[in-house]
Amino acid sequence: MKLIAAVDNNWGLGRNNRLLFHIPEDLRRFRSLTEHNTVVMGRKTLASLPGGKPLANRENIVLTRNPAFFAEGAHIATSVTQLKAMLLKEPFKTRETYLIGGAEIFAELLPYCSIALLTHILADGRADRFLPLIIAHEDWKLIARSESHFYNGLEFYYATYRNLKKASLID
Ligand SMILES: NC(=O)c1ccc[n+]([C@@H]2O[C@H](COP(=O)([O-])OP(=O)(O)OC[C@H]3O[C@@H](n4cnc5c(N)ncnc54)[C@H](OP(=O)(O)O)[C@@H]3O)[C@@H](O)[C@H]2O)c1
Repeated sequence: MKLIAAVDNNWGLGRNNRLLFHIPEDLRRFRSLTEHNTVVMGRKTLASLPGGKPLANRENIVLTRNPAFFAEGAHIATSVTQLKAMLLKEPFKTRETYLIGGAEIFAELLPYCSIALLTHILADGRADRFLPLIIAHEDWKLIARSESHFYNGLEFYYATYRNLKKASLID
């Protein structure tokens, strides 16, 4: 499973259940990486998407503890254990799995991610949701970094981190 996220200077992810920045190039990159694959997200992140709808051209798995929750076009998992079992079956097992947020889901599932694909935005978005500080964690190592890109005066770059001690998704 790969984590994908955009963070600000403080490793902030979002505020008021919205993204901090909208950078078209970054959103296009997110789409091209995740399309035709599986995306796993928390129920609040689903609510933050346009129209509260799952992402097109992807298998969407939404984590919620509410067994009665329904979202058209999405698969529901009510626990990490159930998520693990689902990922071993079709249509998921032959696709790549991207963990797309938000903060609560990242914090819980970070140990199961092999790679983190982060967009670092060099700004303060005054976030109220944050990603754990991968860079300060001894299990995670920076393995690639792009040059800086710019959009509307915002500087950002892409970084790839590898988890040296990934926990198995299979018990
Ligand atoms: N910058 C980025 O790349 C990025 C990416 C994604 C999201 N975001 C931002 O992150 C924010 C949302 O993050 P968040 O932390 O508030 O919420 P979240 O992680 O998206 O969703 C939390 C919800 O997930 C469910 N959940 C959590 N752990 C679970 C478990 N073990 N089993 C079953 N369900 C579980 C619960 O849903 P129930 O309450 O229904 O039980 C919980 O309330 C927004 O601001 C969004 O824009 C940013």
